[in-house]
Amino acid sequence: MRPITVIGNWKMNGSKAACRQWIDTVCAEMEKGMPAGRRFALCPPYPYLSDCSQQISACSSASLALGAQDVSAEMGGAFTGEVSAAMLHEFDCKYVLVGHSERRDRFNESDRLIAEKALQALDQGLTPVICVGETADERNSGRAVEVVRAQVARQIAILQDRLVDSLLAYEPVWAIGTGKVASAQIAQDMHREIRLQLAEFNADVASHIGILYGGSVKFDNAVELFGMPDIDGGLIGGASLDPQEFLAICRA
Ligand code: 13P
Repeated sequence: MRPITVIGNWKMNGSKAACRQWIDTVCAEMEKGMPAGRRFALCPPYPYLSDCSQQISACSSASLALGAQDVSAEMGGAFTGEVSAAMLHEFDCKYVLVGHSERRDRFNESDRLIAEKALQALDQGLTPVICVGETADERNSGRAVEVVRAQVARQIAILQDRLVDSLLAYEPVWAIGTGKVASAQIAQDMHREIRLQLAEFNADVASHIGILYGGSVKFDNAVELFGMPDIDGGLIGGASLDPQEFLAICRA
C-alpha cells in the first residue's frame, strides 16, 4: 500500500510572518492527530527554510516535513545563486521539487538537468519530486501521453533504479493555477500510463513509487482524485497558502 503524500508548493509567495502563522496553525491541528498512512510537507521559498525548519522541529507531531522548491544540479562551488542538496539537508528538508513546469518553461530546464538535480537530491538522502506534464496545445493535439512518456523516459534512462526513492508528480500545465482541474478520470488515466511505463522498466519501481497529481487541487476535488487507484496524493499550489484549506486537503 503506497502512502498518500500531500505537498504544499508556495512558489514565490508568502512572507516570513505568513510562514510562521501557517506552521502554527497546521502543527496545532496535526498535533490533534491526522489520518494514518499519510505524509505532508511544505515547500516555502528558500529564505524561509531556516525559520520553518526550527518551527517544524518544535512541533510534537511528526506529520509535517519540510521541502524546497528547487535544488542545484551541482554539488557545490562557483555557481552564484544556486543552492545545493547538502545545504537543503542541513535545514532538514526531506523533499525537493525538480522540473516544475514553471522552471521547465521559464528557466529552460531540460529533462537531463532535472534528472541531475534529482540525483543530487538522492545523494543527500532527500526525496526528489520529479514533475512532468503536458501543455494545453499538446493535449489538444492528442499528444499528451507521448509528451509525458518522453519526459518519464528521460528520468528512467538517467535515474534507473534510484527512481524508487523519488516521487513523480503529474502536473498538466493547463491545470496549474487555472482552476481547470483535470477530471479524476483524466488524471487517473495518465497516472496509470506512467505506472505502466515504469513497469516496462522495473515492476518493483512501478508498484512502489508514489505518483502525485498537481493542478488546481482544492478540498472539493481532492477526495475524488486521491480515491483513484494510481493517484498517491497531491502537489498543491494556490490552495496550500491557506492553512485550513491545506489541512482539509490533507484529510481528504
Ligand atoms: P495550483 O494548485 O495553484 O494549480 O498549482 C499547482 C502547482 O503548480 C503545484 O506545484
